[in-house]
Amino acid sequence: MNNSFKGSEHLLKRARAVIPGGVSSGNRANWTPFPLYYAKGDGARVWDVDGNEYIDYVLGRGPLILGHGDPEVIDAICQQLKVGQFFAGQIQAEVELAELICSLVSNVEMVRFCNSGSEAIHASVRLARSATGREKIIRFTGHYHGWYDGISWGFLGANTSPSGLSFPAPSSLGQPSSDASNIVTAEWNDPEAVEGAFDKFRGEIAAVITEPIMFNSFWSNVRPIKGFLKFLREQCDANGALLIFDEVQTGFRTSLGGAAEYFGVAADLSTFSKALSGSVCLAAFAGRRDIMNRLVVTNTVHTGTYNAYPPAIVGTLKHLTLLAARSGAKLRLIHQHAALLERGLRDLARQTHLPLVIRASPGAVTTAFRVAPTQVLNHRSAAEGLDFNLQAAWHLALQNRGVRITPEGLWYVSAAHSAKDIVFTLDAAGDALQNLSSRQCK
Ligand SMILES: Cc1ncc(COP(=O)(O)O)c(C=O)c1O
Repeated sequence: MNNSFKGSEHLLKRARAVIPGGVSSGNRANWTPFPLYYAKGDGARVWDVDGNEYIDYVLGRGPLILGHGDPEVIDAICQQLKVGQFFAGQIQAEVELAELICSLVSNVEMVRFCNSGSEAIHASVRLARSATGREKIIRFTGHYHGWYDGISWGFLGANTSPSGLSFPAPSSLGQPSSDASNIVTAEWNDPEAVEGAFDKFRGEIAAVITEPIMFNSFWSNVRPIKGFLKFLREQCDANGALLIFDEVQTGFRTSLGGAAEYFGVAADLSTFSKALSGSVCLAAFAGRRDIMNRLVVTNTVHTGTYNAYPPAIVGTLKHLTLLAARSGAKLRLIHQHAALLERGLRDLARQTHLPLVIRASPGAVTTAFRVAPTQVLNHRSAAEGLDFNLQAAWHLALQNRGVRITPEGLWYVSAAHSAKDIVFTLDAAGDALQNLSSRQCK
């Protein structure tokens, strides 16, 4: 059952001579047994350069919510490429796309386009500082808001200085330590920690930024405890700070109106990418008119050569139109199939002695192996008792059986995944578990 990865191995060797690690995004290096190279994607399937076929639950790490190669989206992009690639000016579809987003997401009145989630977060944090005249941002440990210097603090928790002071840890070498003074970290789902941060830095907090569902910790898909997002809203209002929802994962996947609609809490600013744009490279930051208009009426700068790149705008417009058509019929189907997958995986978990645990939010399922009695509420508890070796073995065992998930155990479901695909997947997953289990018993 072991696939051959000879072609990938060969390309990786060549690549490592000219591309650090052979990959262009650091997290692609974590693949088991090593980073693979891919040749083709179609619907719910991808093929690697060795001809191995997979049902794809990675979907580009979330974006391809309609699956690979939706013909209408491809056609729209090709048409735009034929008539005009780039004007450093506006096109009609840009207006239509902004109108569509405003009509779908109730807390959004205006939108600006950029190229990545990281950029969208960079812009919204700048806007929040511009609007409040303050500099500090409260963010949560274990939440990922892109890789830019100013915000990549505290993802991994805190460091302690020799004098015993606790400060947010940088995600990377090379980040200027001066940025840390503007970041205040708190554990998620901990109202007291948030109150404490507002008390300690009274009148200094520009914004609270949060993933409405914690997708990016050791173990993703951790939901807010009841009332927590509403509590953040109230705390921000009481303290004159803004609330930013990073909806890069949840936007247009959790619901068409994003997690804001799903949980019934409005943010001042929101960021979108992934399921917004699908197969093209586009992101957006969006929100209240008075805040967004600061890009016009104040010297709050947002620029970018490739912003609102026409083929990306047109591709996104078609993509979002298809996803939203018939009151979100495709998204409803995605949610149904993800629920089918979740139920099947839970059944398998009940049947195995391995500590397989499942979490889910609409359209996305997470698997991990964990032995810990504590409830998972935040980054700290998400890290407890996880068996990373078993996780890596599970990833490889699934891959060898034609099922592709992220190394962290995230399964994104698309409109191209059929009920039959889910049945195939669950058979493969059952077989993979049996194999892992018998290896453990030896
Ligand atoms: C919640 C969240 N915010 C921001 C980002 C960064 O987006 P990008 O990788 O497009 O820069 C990600 C990426 O996965 C994300 O999950």
